[in-house]
Amino acid sequence: MSEQEPKTDGKQLEQLQGKVVTDVAGAMGVVMAYMGDQLGMYKALDEINAATSEQLAEKTGLAERYVREWLAANAAGGYINYDAKTERFSMSPEQAVTFAKEGHANCMQGFFQAVVSSYLDESKVTEVFRSGAGLPWSDHNGCLFCGTERFFRPLYAANLVDTWIPALSGVREKLEAGAKVADIGCGHGSSTIIMAKAFPNSTFHGFDFHAPSIDQAKARARDAGVAANTIFEVKNAAAFPGGGYDLVTIFDALHDMGDPVGASGHILSCLSDEGTFMIVEPIAGDSVEENMHPLGQIYYSFSTMVCAPASKAQPVGLALGAQAGQKRLTEVLNEAGFSKVRRVAETPTNMVLEARA
Ligand SMILES: C[S@@+](CC[C@H](N)C(=O)[O-])C[C@H]1O[C@@H](n2cnc3c(N)ncnc32)[C@H](O)[C@@H]1O
Repeated sequence: MSEQEPKTDGKQLEQLQGKVVTDVAGAMGVVMAYMGDQLGMYKALDEINAATSEQLAEKTGLAERYVREWLAANAAGGYINYDAKTERFSMSPEQAVTFAKEGHANCMQGFFQAVVSSYLDESKVTEVFRSGAGLPWSDHNGCLFCGTERFFRPLYAANLVDTWIPALSGVREKLEAGAKVADIGCGHGSSTIIMAKAFPNSTFHGFDFHAPSIDQAKARARDAGVAANTIFEVKNAAAFPGGGYDLVTIFDALHDMGDPVGASGHILSCLSDEGTFMIVEPIAGDSVEENMHPLGQIYYSFSTMVCAPASKAQPVGLALGAQAGQKRLTEVLNEAGFSKVRRVAETPTNMVLEARA
């Protein structure tokens, strides 16, 4: 042993190494899961019920030798089951909803896709650590935009209309009667479309500064049959048009903005007198030490890879981060002129704030 080698505690080192091995297994599991999604292997396996590698290869039209290796990796990770007697692989109902059932509230494929996007963009983010520059949202690979939508849409579908909007003071009644709504940083428009479907008497304006996302949002609105009461436009949060909005929403995007105070100030100036600003943000405690858990690790990591660089690529570049916490978010909203801010709802992953003048 060299003289410089640090003195380590054997038990603590063993524990840490064990955790790292588990994490590395998980990192490989994510890429296996993503490939299974892209190649339709989980869906096919779920449909066949129990299959040998030959049967799954035949059903998917994929090369059997690779399919066999992928199946073994998944079974070793507990993502699917393996019966040694029959040499067949299968999925339990819980595995099927997690890996194969697109749109199910428990399907994690959007999550996996967003993680893979981080790996694909690692070199760009490594570079901004050195330069201190920002990395615009639009400079990420397309996996991020699709993964974000796939991950958040089921959360919005499960909570937005039934829980979050009713928790806001007097908003559901206005939406039922016919209100004017703006959804800022709407991305592919999943939140806008869910609201437009539920409240056909109201008009929903979706704004985002990322043109390809707005194109997607328009196409999805047509597919969902809500083209008549949705209008999507490429606009910056600090300069979207119109006034007299009864409700303005931002879903998981305020912390991505370069100038969240400026954007919130513009929102206040566009609201009607009794208008409401609803902000959905990642759940977080107010201090770093409150966020020392796996979800905190996930959010801080996405924030490192995507949110902080996206904010720094814009004027002001505040870089709030995805774990800002309610106290810091309230300061931002107060500075913009919102005097009443309260938490109206939360899920294990998100908090919902209501801000009023
Ligand atoms: C994490 S995504 C969330 C998208 C969508 N709200 C959702 O929940 O699926 C953040 C979005 O904010 C948009 N965005 C960031 N800064 C913006 C700004 N200053 N003006 C308009 N949109 C912005 C990005 O283009 C991106 O679509």
